[in-house]
Amino acid sequence: MSALPSGRLVVLPDRTALSRAAAERFVEAARRAVEARGAFTVALSGGSTPRDLYELLATPPWRDAVEWPRVHVFWGDERCVPPEDPRSNYRLAHELLLRHVPVPASHVHRMVAERADREAAAAEYAALIRRFVPADEQGVPRFDLVLLGLGDDGHTASLLPGSALIAERGRLVAVTDRQREGMTRLTITPPLIEHAGLLLFLVAGADKAPALREVLLGEERPDRYPAQLARGARGDVVWLVDQAAAAELPPPESETSDGDAG
Ligand code: 6PG
Repeated sequence: MSALPSGRLVVLPDRTALSRAAAERFVEAARRAVEARGAFTVALSGGSTPRDLYELLATPPWRDAVEWPRVHVFWGDERCVPPEDPRSNYRLAHELLLRHVPVPASHVHRMVAERADREAAAAEYAALIRRFVPADEQGVPRFDLVLLGLGDDGHTASLLPGSALIAERGRLVAVTDRQREGMTRLTITPPLIEHAGLLLFLVAGADKAPALREVLLGEERPDRYPAQLARGARGDVVWLVDQAAAAELPPPESETSDGDAG
């Protein structure tokens, strides 16, 4: 494990090992939160990288290691499409994980991003977060865990390069001012990322290597590489990356492994 300006880096041999390490950390974060507060709040990520993680969490031993009735599920971002659309981040998690575990339907908090009035949808989601996610001493809702991916352009959630939302400090949820893959999205904003108890980034594939190098080791330019917002995080930041994505990083000081799942 290597220390970085934006957290800790764990390099895994491949996607399978990455997903297993992510499942272990998800379970541990849930255990700690439930032990401390009787509940666990998590914001899930979209995209393809978390697919294997969601499938692992729906199967033993990980499924049975989480107290699902105490879990509140949110999303870090959502495409402005209906929930049954194959591009929906909600649909991804529902199909692979949520319909297989005993999380109460009332604890699954979907971003209603298909709504015509997207600003209203963003404001309502922010209110939902404030209702179920306890605030920290700065009055910002503190997710126990925020799962995040990394785009090959350095974005995370739906905070895209050049977006005015990278400087957003007031609203907790906003409508993107740029499109990606032809879709407008709703996204959490920097305060929710910076105040999370744990940011867990999952990054796999050679196409992510250049962005990962810039995000972790490059000059601080969050407007160009929004995932660098992790450098301002108040909680823990862990980067789980596969060897392909780590290809442009310097070799670790010592043998990296995920022996420490804590
Ligand atoms: C989304 C995600 C987005 C994703 C990255 C990485 O809605 O697409 O929230 O931020 O995590 O684009 O996507 P992949 O995992 O598909 O590479």
